[in-house]
Amino acid sequence: MANQKKPRNVLVIHGPNLNMLGKREPDIYGDMTLEVINAQLLELGKKQGLTVEVFQSNHEGNIVDKIQEVAGTCSGIIINPAAFTHTSIAIRDALLLLDIPIVEIHLSNIYKREPFRHKSMIADISTAQITGFGPDGYTMALEGIVKMIG
Ligand code: DQA
Repeated sequence: MANQKKPRNVLVIHGPNLNMLGKREPDIYGDMTLEVINAQLLELGKKQGLTVEVFQSNHEGNIVDKIQEVAGTCSGIIINPAAFTHTSIAIRDALLLLDIPIVEIHLSNIYKREPFRHKSMIADISTAQITGFGPDGYTMALEGIVKMIG
């Protein structure tokens, strides 16, 4: 057992409307598509020797289902709950099932935007939060998780 390495797998969850990146409010979210962001994460995961799974849904319940599915098998999670950040107790409760690093990420700086975006339902249960770095935030989050899980 001593020499056996723990499996290292990270789940990246993208919430509603993030599938429209590239077309969606590019002045706020930039012009990089989700496909490109995901490809960068998979590539970085490969370099770091860990498995990265990406998941996007526009539906709150599907995100809850996905979090429940990986509970107990995943070593870290990166989540941009998008609009659900500000509303979803269900996603918060699902994340509370996990005993692994959770990185909350936002492309835009949510604290510089409308007041309703200043409240995150998951900030106080996340290990770290990255907000306002655009797509670079995702690779920063993955590098941070790699350091956390060793
Ligand atoms: C977002 C910020 C949210 O307020 C918004 O609803 C999103 C994207 C971001 O990445 O900046 O859909 O999470």
